[in-house]
Amino acid sequence: MRSYSVAVIPGDGIGIEVVAAALPVLHAAGERHGFQLDTTHFPWGGAYYARHGEMMAADGLQTLRGFQAILLGAIGDARLVPDHVSLHTMLLEIRRRFQQYINLRPHRVLAGVRSPLREADFDILCIRENSEGEYVGAGGRAHVGTPNEVAVETAIFTRQGVERVLRFAFEQARQRSRRLAIATKSNAQKHSMVFWDEVAAAVAADYPDVAATTYHVDALCARLITHPASVDVVVASNLFGDILTDVGAAIQGGLGFAASANLDPTRTYPSMFESVHGSAPDIAGRNIANPCATIWAGAMMLEFLGERAAAASVMRALETVTGAAQVRTPDMGGQHTTEEMGLAIVAALGDV
Ligand code: NAD
Ligand code: IPM
Ligand code: MN
Repeated sequence: MRSYSVAVIPGDGIGIEVVAAALPVLHAAGERHGFQLDTTHFPWGGAYYARHGEMMAADGLQTLRGFQAILLGAIGDARLVPDHVSLHTMLLEIRRRFQQYINLRPHRVLAGVRSPLREADFDILCIRENSEGEYVGAGGRAHVGTPNEVAVETAIFTRQGVERVLRFAFEQARQRSRRLAIATKSNAQKHSMVFWDEVAAAVAADYPDVAATTYHVDALCARLITHPASVDVVVASNLFGDILTDVGAAIQGGLGFAASANLDPTRTYPSMFESVHGSAPDIAGRNIANPCATIWAGAMMLEFLGERAAAASVMRALETVTGAAQVRTPDMGGQHTTEEMGLAIVAALGDV
């Protein structure tokens, strides 16, 4: 039987609950499609930090390196560890060190799900640069706590980094509607974003069949709300992509639906699959979080592992359940639990 090793990091808050709901769906898909997910759980996150003074084991990255994929819930428990520490020493560190330079985030409204928009007939794929830019962590502070205090946070963009994400985006656009929206901000950021525009123009020359449009990121945020159907593939820097994809999540019905795949396209390192949302401390521990985003991310993981039919089954089961609207978590206007939503999708897998 085909078997895939998957490192599971539930993390903090609702991350633990949505992963618990998603795993039975993925195992059931494996059973139906003739493969096994060989999962190993790692209890890393805020509680681990409270005990050990670090977010994950000292050899955590080496351990993860041996897996074929990583499924992650969410990281962040500000009561136990400051967010910039937890994220930079774990989630962002994994993305950077495992050269997961592509962050794929699909935005469309699943059957039965209510978008806040009047017209929600869109199918957007956001491709976020995921390894450098505004997230490299270069900078520092001086004269801390004095009136002369300074803080510097330097975004670093390399030609290699910008070009590879743009090429990936053009390739995706070629396979879809041949339209690409490039988010920059070259009217204000006269070094880095002018550079992005130049690299984009050079790469575009290799894709004459793709209609590429450059937008200022602020205008593109607005366009996602006013004319979402005019947008297909989007490519953006790390920070711009972060912001655009919370807008994407909102228009697709909420953060409970937005999935995310952190890919190393070279397959040198394991890729990591998660939701766009975080640990949601405001609803954590109540079994009411929507697990759909993590289940969708799980489907993206199966697809990346080469189990395309299983990935499609999971998405059909997911939409069967959202479409029937009989099982709905509170964010969808219902009263069902995270666990009930997961089980309903497992049951639907038997029918699709
Ligand atoms: P968040 O995404 O956790 O929550 C934002 C809002 O959306 C909250 O009201 C929350 O209840 C709601 N929400 C999120 N996911 C939901 C779901 N599945 N079902 C129903 N409602 C859901 O963002 P935040 O509040 O800015 O961050 C909370 C913590 O998570 C912070 O520590 C932050 O740094 C961290 N974070 C981690 C990740 C990650 O691990 N990938 C992503 C984003 C934020
Ligand atoms: C996301 C999250 C992270 C990011 C945070 C938690 C650092 O918001 O995955 O979108 O900004 O990348
Ligand atoms: Mn985000």
